[in-house]
Amino acid sequence: MIEFGILLLILTTAVTAVREIPYITAHYGENGQEVYKMKLPFPSIKINEPDQYICYTRYLEELDEVYVLSTLIEINHDFVHHADLGFCEEPEDFASHQPWECSKTRKYCKGGAVGVYFFVDYYRPENGLMRFPKDVSLKVGFSTIMRHITFEMHTKAAVTDAHYPLINATLTFIKTPTKYNYQSHLLLTDGFIPANKEKGYFAEVACRWSKPDVVAFAVQVHTHHYGYMADVYRVRNGTWTLMVSQLTQGKAKVLVPVPGGAIDVRQGDVLAAKCLFITKDNKPVRFGQSDGQEMCNVDIQLGYEFKHEDRFKRSSACMTQQPEFSFCDHEATSGICGDNRKVNM
Ligand SMILES: *[C@@H]1O[C@H](CO)[C@@H](O)[C@H](O)[C@H]1NC(C)=O
Ligand SMILES: *[C@@H]1O[C@H](CO)[C@@H](O)[C@H](O)[C@H]1NC(C)=O
Repeated sequence: MIEFGILLLILTTAVTAVREIPYITAHYGENGQEVYKMKLPFPSIKINEPDQYICYTRYLEELDEVYVLSTLIEINHDFVHHADLGFCEEPEDFASHQPWECSKTRKYCKGGAVGVYFFVDYYRPENGLMRFPKDVSLKVGFSTIMRHITFEMHTKAAVTDAHYPLINATLTFIKTPTKYNYQSHLLLTDGFIPANKEKGYFAEVACRWSKPDVVAFAVQVHTHHYGYMADVYRVRNGTWTLMVSQLTQGKAKVLVPVPGGAIDVRQGDVLAAKCLFITKDNKPVRFGQSDGQEMCNVDIQLGYEFKHEDRFKRSSACMTQQPEFSFCDHEATSGICGDNRKVNM
């Protein structure tokens, strides 16, 4: 009874503390649960040149341990070409809590890190809102692994004081855990697309899932200018389940829910993806970040149980070399494989 009283006191104090901060508001959501919103602006910074990458990390000093249900990002589209929102355990020393020019390196998080929002002019999530599905949230706050919020922006034009703030991020959160915590898993390709693939070339990735079981609820696929479409599958004991099939022309970044709702991915399953490229170039096209290079990027959004936090501190990735690797080379996918080397014959 005494313990209960103390617990109640602590809880009440924590809630009151959050309530006293003017930029945090509280209301009651469905089923009477208290839901909070916190709005954070990107700080003022003069930007004399167009086309700059500016990053900013901020310690979440107001939040001890909360569960983010959605993020809303408001962007001044006249000045911002791309914006990214994430959380990290500890920023590198150079990533102080002041905005800094970050075109040279985007690797500024030590330990845990998670990305939640990505915006470019090619891909505009509706209204800047990113909402986790039922049962999934993201645990953040100073007593969790994700203690800092991170902003990244790519500007289009020079910026003067009159335009501040260029970005506002609003976190909507609750104080009790959901069933799953959020992280992502990447499938990627490296190497190159051979020359003269005007009849098409498939870049393929297939990797066995070796982490604890998760639920996969949405997938984002992305290619550059030679890319036409991307398909992603879960392969379990010879059964292929489609997770996404999307056109990716014109550098589109398409985030789509898994059809029919979230599916589980268990140890031993294989995650497989293929992207179609068509190139008439008489030289190979390399995979890489820049505009003239290509990408076959698959970002799988998933939920894991909190007890496995140690295994999901950072997003994991699996990459294959092109053109060496194809579905023919993985036992789980070799049954359905077209050999790229024969495509042009
Ligand atoms: C951010 O919020 C402030 C006030 O809270 C507002 O004046 C400003 O226009 C907002 N910026 C954007 C890009 O929406
Ligand atoms: C695959 O099938 C075998 C034999 O039927 C079964 O033991 C195993 O659990 C299955 N694997 C998965 C991931 O369902």
